[in-house]
Amino acid sequence: MAEKVHIITYGCQMNKADSADLAGWMEKHGFELHASVDGADILLVNTCSVRQGAEDRAIQMVRSINHNIKGGCPRVIGLCGCVAERKGPALLKELPGISLVIGPGHFYRIPELVRDVLDTGRRKCLVGGEGRFGPKTTRPRVQLCEMVKVVEGCTNYCSYCIVPYVRGPERSRSIKSILDEVKELVSRGAREVSLLGQNIMAFQVEQGRRPGEGIVDILDGLSDIPDCWRVRLVTAHPRDIHPWFIRALSNYPIFCPQFQMPFQSGSNWVLDRMGRGYTREDYLEKLSLIRDTFPGAGLYVDVIVGFPRETEKDFLETLSMLEESRPDRAFIFKYSPRPGSKAAHWEDTVPPEEKQRRFLEAERCHGSIALSSHQSLVGKTRQILCEGRSWKDPSRFTGRTREGQIVVYPERSGDEKCLVSVRLESASRVCLYGCAI
Ligand code: 5AD
Ligand code: SF4
Repeated sequence: MAEKVHIITYGCQMNKADSADLAGWMEKHGFELHASVDGADILLVNTCSVRQGAEDRAIQMVRSINHNIKGGCPRVIGLCGCVAERKGPALLKELPGISLVIGPGHFYRIPELVRDVLDTGRRKCLVGGEGRFGPKTTRPRVQLCEMVKVVEGCTNYCSYCIVPYVRGPERSRSIKSILDEVKELVSRGAREVSLLGQNIMAFQVEQGRRPGEGIVDILDGLSDIPDCWRVRLVTAHPRDIHPWFIRALSNYPIFCPQFQMPFQSGSNWVLDRMGRGYTREDYLEKLSLIRDTFPGAGLYVDVIVGFPRETEKDFLETLSMLEESRPDRAFIFKYSPRPGSKAAHWEDTVPPEEKQRRFLEAERCHGSIALSSHQSLVGKTRQILCEGRSWKDPSRFTGRTREGQIVVYPERSGDEKCLVSVRLESASRVCLYGCAI
């Protein structure tokens, strides 16, 4: 009988895409996917190390496994991904219950490694690989909205960030393999794809191309796939977005104008120390061109508060940047030093209570911006791709606008997996409510 494997994923969409591939490889090697840790023979935890909190949560979860499992502990527990890469063999000592520690460079070997532990009981740590893309998988389940990784790693070395150290330098997939994967996903029911990269704009830059050129080629190819309706780009480094690229995007009806463009700080001094390569003025100028080209474009940002030596004045500039850029969604993070990164050598000057205060203040500021920007859409009609029942309220359907806003509306038969026009009637900070027309 096939061993049952349960996969838990922490962190970003890149990790979710890796876990979807991993599930495919496991199935292909004769394992059976299992929806819960209870009753699983194998537990794989795909971890994220970008912030200390994300790392702590994953480790805490693995620690708690022994005590919490009905029907006994899984026979093999594997800790995979960026925390594995960062901490390496030390994890085998720290967590006696785990058998495997596997960095992102060896993901595609996990089925073989799990089999080896089952057969021999030998614990193993594999990190430091070159991190190439694994063989193509067939994802076990295809969703309406799918994620496709196009570029892996990062070579920017922003001073706070651990990604280049745990994920390695930028490496792009071939356009052919991306298009083949999307064709396969679409033939199995996907209608929207998010193209993923730590910095999507880095696609093919390591091959000497200008940022964005390769993305335009992918959009050309995707436009020829009849049932591929929508494409999103996740995430774009603001430094690499240029006016020609913004204008080029407007040639592609499949492109969804939802810009995931983290600004991180509103203070030029902090931006410089972060090594971001743009100023607040550069960012706002690009944003203004985006909004002229795509009226109503969605904006998602990441913001860090409490960076080393960030003063009250710098922080107020971040608040004013939130106000000026008016993002639909802001992910706000308290700075945490990441070992190996440049900023980890600098004194972490902002005390935890002060970081918390800035965090709450930024959240509050963004909350009221998100509410008022959603309210400005009330009375308008937007097209959504209906993803089916809302998990919060199963009597309602949910989907996203092209700009990325979440819309919830009373169920209507026949809408699932279709493009539906919805009149927007009310708004909250996180979503809009409406009625299908
Ligand atoms: N501390 C806090 N937030 C961080 N991020 C990355 N590194 C750190 C860090 N050391 C945030 C950035 C990035 C997001 C994925 O995580 O905002 O865009
Ligand atoms: Fe980290 Fe900067 Fe690369 Fe983003 S662009 S992954 S913040 S180094």
